[in-house]
Amino acid sequence: MPTTTTPETPDPRIRLQKVLARAGLGSRRVCEELIADGRVTIDGEEAILGDRVDPDAAVVTVDDVPIGIRPGSVYYLLNKPAGVVTTADDPQGRPIVVDLVPSETRIFPVGRLDLDTEGLLLLTNDGDLAHRLTHPSFGIEKEYLAEVEGEPGRAAVRRLRTGVSLDDGPTAPATVGTVSPAVLRIVIHEGRNHQVRRMCEAVGHPVRRLVRTRLATLTDPRLAPGEWRALTIDEVRALERAAAGPNDEGDTRRERRARDR
Ligand code: URA
Repeated sequence: MPTTTTPETPDPRIRLQKVLARAGLGSRRVCEELIADGRVTIDGEEAILGDRVDPDAAVVTVDDVPIGIRPGSVYYLLNKPAGVVTTADDPQGRPIVVDLVPSETRIFPVGRLDLDTEGLLLLTNDGDLAHRLTHPSFGIEKEYLAEVEGEPGRAAVRRLRTGVSLDDGPTAPATVGTVSPAVLRIVIHEGRNHQVRRMCEAVGHPVRRLVRTRLATLTDPRLAPGEWRALTIDEVRALERAAAGPNDEGDTRRERRARDR
């Protein structure tokens, strides 16, 4: 789709892989592969490497799903270090997670990790997905490694699995395994405040160190503390699927919308 330009009006078009990367679909190299694989269209026509688009005018899709280039959906996975607050704004001026990722748009953390909790945190400007990933009715799994005081025995692990009584009610059944005598792998699908710490405390093994290793389908053992990366399109789609609640065909809401157009 040619755009008329004159010396007075600069060309608004930018390289397609840059638009895709800005939309959180992966590195520019990954985005070039998406284009080369024929998975990208511009205004209904298959894109080719070298294409440029005006992000304010063109409709770009990947696998038939429109990307959110207007205003722009971004998805960052951060390995949160201890000592950083999970917020978009801290009146006390402490280090905050949004300052660890480079976003031109206003983004916010999905859910909360305690000040001293480390590990995987999603940051996005996609409020709809964020809501579904955090609302308890969607039952999204969160997996943690908890280094605890002492060595939890079978009775303590059994209590953690079946549910412990906390001051805001009993916890739902959890998946709990012993990684080493003082390290537990705990998978919960609730999102109560300080939940893992309170559960471990309740069975007599307070947490010394807590690391989130998975959020729904998202993992990345190679992401070092303080590092971030954009999610790939496949990761966003997997998250959508995890947070959609499957229909009879197991389709995501975006897939259904795309098909119904
Ligand atoms: N459970 C906790 O106790 N703290 C966190 O940061 C996350 C889960």
